[in-house]
Amino acid sequence: MEKIVKVELDCEYYFNEASVDISVVFSAKKVEIMCLGKKYFLQEKDLAEYDYEKIEINILAKRLLYNIFSKKTGKTSTWGILSGVRPSKLYRKIMKIYDSKSEVRRVLSNVYLISEEKIDVLEEVYDNQKLSISRRDEIIVYISLPFCPSKCSYCTFITACGSGKIDTYMDTLMYELEESKDVLSKAKIIYIGGGTPTYLPDNYFENLLNFVSDAGDYDEFTVEAGRPETISKNKLELMKKYGVNRISVNPQTFNDETLVKIGRKHSVSDIYNTYDLALIKGFDNINMDLILGLPDENLKSVEKSIDEVLRLKPRSITIHCLSLKKNSKLSENYLDEHVKSNELVKKMMDYVINKFDDSEYGKYYIYRQKNIGGDQENIGFCIKGFENHYNILMMEDLCSVYSFGAGSVSKGFKGGKIERFVFPKDLKTYIERIDELIDKRKKLFT
Ligand SMILES: C[S@@+](CC[C@H](N)C(=O)[O-])C[C@H]1O[C@@H](n2cnc3c(N)ncnc32)[C@H](O)[C@@H]1O
Ligand code: SF4
Repeated sequence: MEKIVKVELDCEYYFNEASVDISVVFSAKKVEIMCLGKKYFLQEKDLAEYDYEKIEINILAKRLLYNIFSKKTGKTSTWGILSGVRPSKLYRKIMKIYDSKSEVRRVLSNVYLISEEKIDVLEEVYDNQKLSISRRDEIIVYISLPFCPSKCSYCTFITACGSGKIDTYMDTLMYELEESKDVLSKAKIIYIGGGTPTYLPDNYFENLLNFVSDAGDYDEFTVEAGRPETISKNKLELMKKYGVNRISVNPQTFNDETLVKIGRKHSVSDIYNTYDLALIKGFDNINMDLILGLPDENLKSVEKSIDEVLRLKPRSITIHCLSLKKNSKLSENYLDEHVKSNELVKKMMDYVINKFDDSEYGKYYIYRQKNIGGDQENIGFCIKGFENHYNILMMEDLCSVYSFGAGSVSKGFKGGKIERFVFPKDLKTYIERIDELIDKRKKLFT
């Protein structure tokens, strides 16, 4: 039996080669693989970890490719052959089969070649997700507000900058929310994300919050505000009035020069002022996002940011590693430095892990991205009891998600399998096709 499989590894920055066609020929107790013009054999001893009858070609081929690249470059990846953005899903899947932490560790290490240190992270994340998992049968709601005051140089989230189109967008969004009021009435978890929701003019912002809060009774109501300069006193008062109980004030870094370089229009002192104001207004569940590997930052800059965020002690802190996106401004001239900074981002993450291990924060969700700095990952940390259910259930694909707005992704279960329906990212298309989109999304949930 011969199969041609396309094999992809996530560590393309590591090896400078990402995917390759591999021809795999199976015969009794031997697998023959043609890769990059050479023939390789996997013998019985290489297959010891597998149930021979059910060999997963992809895993074998990935291991082979990994070994070839590894030998060629002298490098290894702490994430082994893992591809995809959700390593904690794999952990959960293997746990379902073996029901034993030591067995999961053995498989992740021996089959997927993941390092012990990353398995430790996955194990902690798994333990800290238990409470949210008990809510897996709920429906969660996501609302997308794709507007920002300016475009950050690393970001490719769909965002329209400036206030053009906000009025027609909000009319359309309110129309589809009105159409699905019954969904809001069933949801207990809601997340308004972006973009930067707090960039909306106050009247639109209040109108939206008023509608959403009237339509349901939520125990987790997040507004991913984010950019400090958009979180005014009035916005905070509105969020409090309508029951929002989790917000983000995102520094990204505590270094003013970097903020200028990445196109953020706020300063470090804006971060402190906004955070203080939010506390005064009664928000006791605040998240802060940071990014490791930003342009020209060294270990000292990151140490400063981490030490500062730990001193402020928000309930949760999300650490991202810069992922270089093809269409971002940053990718126009940053590629070389980014590749070189691999080792540096690793050291930054080591600093983070050591610091957080000595703190009261635990790791509660994790995801990876393509072209992620230092071959690392993004980790959500929080003080016990402040795990964000939305982040966990969304990342683990455990819940139905009813999503509104341009670029939003709805997820429904059909025959036990998750199916997605994505609204167009382009605002004009979203607005013009709204009736058809509403109908198609409904089908996902019937
Ligand atoms: C959807 S964005 C919205 C956040 C909000 N608009 C803000 O900027 O504060 C969520 C987070 O993703 C992270 N992020 C976005 N693009 C990234 C990239 N290319 N690499 C690493 N992290 C990124 C940032 O930390 C950002 O705060
Ligand atoms: S990081 Fe946030 S503010 Fe910056 S462009 Fe992306 S969504 Fe907008």
